Parts: sequence; C-alpha cells; structure tokens
Amino acid sequence: MKWLAFTLAFCLFVVDVYSDSDTIDWCYHDTSCDDRTWPVIAANFCNRSRQSPINIATADAIEDGNLIGFTITNFTSTSALVDITNTGKTVKVNIKKGVQISGGGLSEPYDSLQFHLHWGNRSTKGGSEHTVNGKRYPMELHLVNVKSRYNLNTSLALEDSTGLAALGFFIEADSSITTGEFWRNLTAYLRQIPLAGDHVNITHDIPLIGLLQGVDLTRYYRYLGSLTTPTCNEAVVWTVFKDPIRVSPEMIDLFSTELHINNTIDSPLMVNVFRNVQPDLLVTTQREDTTDDSVKLCASLALLALSLVLSSS
Ligand SMILES: *[C@@H]1O[C@H](CO)[C@@H](O)[C@H](O)[C@H]1NC(C)=O
Ligand SMILES: *[C@@H]1O[C@H](CO)[C@@H](O)[C@H](O)[C@H]1NC(C)=O
Ligand SMILES: *[C@@H]1O[C@H](CO)[C@@H](O)[C@H](O)[C@H]1NC(C)=O
Ligand SMILES: *[C@@H]1O[C@H](CO)[C@@H](O)[C@H](O)[C@H]1NC(C)=O
Ligand SMILES: *[C@@H]1O[C@H](CO)[C@@H](O)[C@H](O)[C@H]1NC(C)=O
Ligand SMILES: *[C@@H]1O[C@H](CO)[C@@H](O)[C@H](O)[C@H]1NC(C)=O
Ligand SMILES: *[C@@H]1O[C@H](CO)[C@@H](O)[C@H](O)[C@H]1NC(C)=O
Ligand SMILES: [Zn+2]
Repeated sequence: MKWLAFTLAFCLFVVDVYSDSDTIDWCYHDTSCDDRTWPVIAANFCNRSRQSPINIATADAIEDGNLIGFTITNFTSTSALVDITNTGKTVKVNIKKGVQISGGGLSEPYDSLQFHLHWGNRSTKGGSEHTVNGKRYPMELHLVNVKSRYNLNTSLALEDSTGLAALGFFIEADSSITTGEFWRNLTAYLRQIPLAGDHVNITHDIPLIGLLQGVDLTRYYRYLGSLTTPTCNEAVVWTVFKDPIRVSPEMIDLFSTELHINNTIDSPLMVNVFRNVQPDLLVTTQREDTTDDSVKLCASLALLALSLVLSSS
C-alpha cells in the first residue's frame, strides 16, 4: 500500500468541465450521426490513426518496467464529488479541485476533473469501450485527469499529446456480490436525473476510492490514444486497469432503464453508449511479477516433498 498517499479534502473550487464537442451533433443511436459517421462529421480528429478505444490483445502487450503504481491524492475525500449530470450521452460526475494522480509511469501530476460511464443495454449486453482479447465488459468508468500544469484549462491540455490522463475501470456484473454502499448511493441519484440536462448535487459522502474497490492500481495497460467522443482529440494517455470493479447486475441495469437521451420522457432510453474499437495501437504493461508464482511453486513442491517423506515413513 506504499503507493497510496491519502489526504483528506475540503475543497473550495468546483471544476467545470466543458466539452469541445458541444457544437457537433454526434450521437450513438442513429445511423446519421453514430460512431461510423464521426470520421466525416467530426473529421478533426476522429479520422486520425491514434484513436480510442481499442481492443487490448494481452499477448501483444510489451513489458515496460517504468509502469509503476499510482500515487493518488484525496481519493478518500468524502466531499470531492460535486454533482451528477445526465448529459444525454452519458452520466457525468464532476470532481472538486484537489484530487490528483501521479506516478503510474506518468511524466508529471494530473488533476482529476470528472468521471463518466459507458454501458450497453443492461448487464447482459456489453458496453465497455475497451475490450480485452475481444471481451466487452458490461460497463466502463472513465476518470478524466488533466496535467496539473494547465491548472484545469482543458483547451490547453487538448493541444498537448499527453495533456489528459484517462483511467479506465471495467465494471463486471457479479450477482454474488452485495454491492457496496458507495455504488448504491451513487446509482440512487440516477432516478433524479431522467432527462438530458438534469443534474443534482451529490450530498452523500462518497469517496472516489470507495467506487474503485477490488482494483489493484499497480496492474494496468498503457497506450497513447484519444478522447472516445467527438472531437476525438489525440491528447490522452490511457490507463486501463486489469481488475474490474464488481457491481450487482441490478445496479448496472439502472443505467439502461432510468436515463433518457433527450429532454422528454418519451425520448429513447440511454443504452449502448460506447464507441466501437479502433485500429490496434502499441500497448505496454508491467512485467509480470514472477516471484509470486515461483514462491507458490516452491511452496507446493515443498508440500509435495513433505507428503512424500510422510507417506514413506
Ligand atoms: C487535497 O485536498 C485538500 C483540501 O482541499 C487540499 O488542501 C490539498 O491541497 C489537496 N491535495 C492536493 C495534492 O491537491
Ligand atoms: C481528417 O479530416 C481533416 C479535415 O477534413 C483533414 O484535414 C485531414 O487531412 C483528415 N485526416 C486524415 C488522416 O484523413
Ligand atoms: C434493450 O433491452 C431491452 C430488454 O431486453 C429491449 O426491450 C430493448 O429493445 C433493448 N434496446 C435496444 C436499443 O437494443
Ligand atoms: C485556457 O487557455 C487559453 C490559452 O491560453 C485561454 O485563451 C483561455 O481563456 C483559457 N481558458 C480558461 C478557462 O482559463
Ligand atoms: C448545489 O450546490 C451549489 C454549490 O454549492 C449551490 O449553489 C446550489 O444551490 C446547490 N443546488 C441545490 C439544488 O442544492
Ligand atoms: C448510503 O445510503 C444508505 C441508505 O440510503 C444510508 O443509510 C447511508 O448512510 C448512505 N451512506 C452514505 C455514505 O451516505
Ligand atoms: C433530441 O432533441 C434535439 C433538440 O432538443 C433534437 O434535435 C433531436 O432530434 C432529439 N433527438 C431525439 C432522438 O429525439
Ligand atoms: Zn469515456
């Protein structure tokens, strides 16, 4: 747990995340504006060659000893989550200034801005953006961070090929799990934001780390890619964690059943909000820690030897 550097937050500044893409009329649902059309309707930059998401072929990932664990700051703050918004494309949670990440093979610290999610149609229909050896998880959480030197100015960050650091967390459905109180309390807000544009303040004490339980922050894939929505700027250092967050299927289903894509209740439900995978890119990862395996092997050999000794005596 050495990589954890916890501090508590009492934050003053609310981060406002604007979107460069507001002027382009893109969508997930309609063939006139879905992701197949983005390279045309959002030619800058969705038509380029460093695009996200991708399929991660684990056998092709190159080992990189520089990919150490992350140092996270103020992830235990119970007041860091500001508000939750139905954007018509996703559910977005804004994060107060003071939450930070560093390490993780990043060149410098980054400030956390917001997280949002991608999903399919209920827990049974995959909706993660990244896939691993072709597997699509039910959901994916994206924690978006901007290089601290830009002081939360995202337009400056988008001009830098590593201006943003996005952390991708897969969400797996697990019916054997009693979903943690933090996920329950977060998803309880969904029924308060059924229509695009709806937003409410977060009043529950939900620390970011409480939503990421079960994820080892030292095990991840790394590649250089882009925003996964127009305007698809190629300004993102991607980190995709190997361990999924486990959440009950009922909780996952809420995303596909409570939210609408427009500001009328008869507009379609928000489902299948993910971009299809783009051409492969170079992916790196940690050197597999073979000590653990060899220790296990030695232990089982020792047990075997012991049982042989015992049975022959
Ligand atoms: C963590 O949050 C507290 C309270 O907002 C703040 O004083 C502190 O500077 C933050 N830490 C960092 C590294 O930003
Ligand atoms: C992408 O579209 C832009 C704008 O039309 C164009 O300038 C650029 O050459 C295109 N890039 C590629 C790789 O096709
Ligand atoms: C989503 O799933 C529900 C229930 O299975 C189904 O009725 C609905 O048509 C699906 N929606 C889409 C867009 O596939
Ligand atoms: C971000 O930086 C750009 C370029 O320096 C500047 O024009 C813009 O006003 C800044 N935006 C904010 C919100 O400070
Ligand atoms: C939400 O929080 C903001 C900032 O603290 C505050 O100005 C606003 O009144 C709150 N809205 C509601 C509905 O409580
Ligand atoms: C989460 O919600 C439950 C029930 O609604 C409540 O008892 C609990 O105090 C909440 N937890 C937090 C951290 O707000
Ligand atoms: C959603 O509303 C916008 C304008 O408010 C409209 O242009 C668009 O066609 C609507 N989309 C759907 C799917 O109803
Ligand atoms: Zn995303």
